[in-house]
Amino acid sequence: MKLNKKIRLLIAADGSAGSGKTTASKLIAKKYGLKFLSSGLLYRFVAYKLLTSKNVKSKNLFLKKITKKISSKDLKNKYLFSPKVTKYTSKIAKIKKIRNLLKNYQKKFAKKKLVIIEGRDIGTVIIPKADIKLFFKCPLDVTALRRFKEYRKINKKISFSDVKKAIRLRNSIDTKRKFSPLRVAKGAVVFDTSKVNKKQMLIQLSKIVDDKLKEKYAGSI
Ligand code: C5P
Repeated sequence: MKLNKKIRLLIAADGSAGSGKTTASKLIAKKYGLKFLSSGLLYRFVAYKLLTSKNVKSKNLFLKKITKKISSKDLKNKYLFSPKVTKYTSKIAKIKKIRNLLKNYQKKFAKKKLVIIEGRDIGTVIIPKADIKLFFKCPLDVTALRRFKEYRKINKKISFSDVKKAIRLRNSIDTKRKFSPLRVAKGAVVFDTSKVNKKQMLIQLSKIVDDKLKEKYAGSI
């Protein structure tokens, strides 16, 4: 679906780990031709660089340097999703300095005309004036089972309880941290992904988007 050139649409999608926000955001992005950013990749990238760089003299300078020019290639690194990096990411995402350094990238991305950004603080901190704010949730057991099935394909030794424990810990850190904790943004639509399949999800989310477009551009496009 190609939106009229005059349209500007900004969507913020937040939610806990494994809540389905990435899948949902990608579906919306594809349908409406929006630019998509998974902001978690930025935090994962910083965690990865901190874990793999040796002989860093000044951590501050190093952080400034690596966050200044993040390329799309940097964010495609498959190691960003390794269990070690994933675990470390929620630790470094608590740090205000790191969050501030990554703000520029996200704010710049949000300047594009048609955008959807997903993460934890998109509707609350990064783009509080988004046209649509979505908050995805899903019960821990359902999330853990989804992830367990994915991980099992690459690691036969992994157990369901370990996967569940890791997700619970990550969500707890993200929700309890002092700066930019995971919260439902003011005016956000809360969407439970455990009750729908992908097709139903897209139908329901499309209704939210179409209604917003009608409201915002009624009669003018
Ligand atoms: O979304 P994803 O699971 O890739 O995010 C990885 C981690 O990055 C989260 O657990 C969270 O600690 C951090 N994050 C964040 N703020 C965002 C996006 C991700 O703190 N906007």
